[in-house]
Amino acid sequence: MHLLGLFTAFLIFISLASAAHPASCSGACNVHDPAVIRRTSDGTYFRFSTGNRIQIATASSLAGPWTIQGSAIPAGSIIDLDGQDNLWAPDVSNVGDYYYLYYSVSTFGSQNSAIGVARSRTMDVGTWTDLGSTGINSSTGSAYNSIDANLIATGGNYYMTFGSFWNDLYQVQMANPPVKIAGSSPYQVAFNSTGAHAIEGSIVFKHSRYFYLFFSSGTCCGYDSNRPSAGNEYRINVCRSTSIAGPYVDAAGRSCKSGGGTTVLGSQDWLYGPGGQGVFADSKSGRTILYYHYVDTRIGYADGQKRFGWNVLNWSGGWPTVA
Ligand SMILES: *[C@@H]1O[C@H](CO)[C@@H](O)[C@H](O)[C@H]1NC(C)=O
Ligand SMILES: *[C@@H]1O[C@H](CO)[C@@H](O)[C@H](O)[C@H]1NC(C)=O
Ligand SMILES: *[C@@H]1O[C@H](CO)[C@@H](O)[C@H](O)[C@H]1NC(C)=O
Repeated sequence: MHLLGLFTAFLIFISLASAAHPASCSGACNVHDPAVIRRTSDGTYFRFSTGNRIQIATASSLAGPWTIQGSAIPAGSIIDLDGQDNLWAPDVSNVGDYYYLYYSVSTFGSQNSAIGVARSRTMDVGTWTDLGSTGINSSTGSAYNSIDANLIATGGNYYMTFGSFWNDLYQVQMANPPVKIAGSSPYQVAFNSTGAHAIEGSIVFKHSRYFYLFFSSGTCCGYDSNRPSAGNEYRINVCRSTSIAGPYVDAAGRSCKSGGGTTVLGSQDWLYGPGGQGVFADSKSGRTILYYHYVDTRIGYADGQKRFGWNVLNWSGGWPTVA
């Protein structure tokens, strides 16, 4: 007991000593589920986020100042489903001549969901064409929930990783161009059988010879009215695999399909509940950037108060850490 106490104190000391804080953000820094990409033509950073029918903000630097430009899909989605006017969790990729914006149509806690796609050549407000459903959809009783999409291109093929709660994370091959599923069935890539199966918001990023599956684990929202017990709030976990389809394992060798996941960023100091993350190779700095939303406990716990955070990732040792 005594030794365990000492050991715990030591661990707390270590984690305090290595406390990571988000890099600075100025301008429009309130976001939920950000997706960031740098426009190749002029180097402008575009940030998409939940709300305002997928809000678009731009900046000349990740640190800002961020300026809100408007909505990507101002008329709402053409997908005829509850939530078509309240689009969530954008993901943006550059494929060929287009930027593809994936979005979720759903309502909170419901499996009646679909992943839609819009595309644009420039990403500017007013240039997006909504193409509707990707064919990834679900309803009550489905194995998965069709939200929180993330596209990756590898080996000339496209894969969509998606999912939230129920049986957690799934993946499916996409056609070329990646506006529809290729035809095969989605398969599971991560699952935590304990508790509420609270895994969502995945993103797969290729580094060196591995595919890294980042995901948000825990309770995302409503911290001002119903705060989860300590340790059950959002945190950013990772698993990796040499194959896009898995099997994904964490740094301790545990399967991501049986509760595995190594924490990259969790609550510390005034940073609380980080998640809804993305990862991208920043062509300006040449570094890999992890970005996310989080609660700054000095500001407030409400969903509308969530802040845009980002950090450089350090790949030393083959597992990403926040530098
Ligand atoms: C997905 O959408 C198609 C076409 O809109 C529909 O026929 C099918 O039943 C849906 N599947 C689920 C699981 O909701
Ligand atoms: C799996 O879920 C349990 C219960 O919510 C949680 O305590 C545990 O941390 C989760 N595992 C991971 C890797 O997040
Ligand atoms: C990356 O992590 C390694 C090992 O902890 C450390 O030696 C190195 O200084 C870090 N690099 C940066 C840029 O922080």
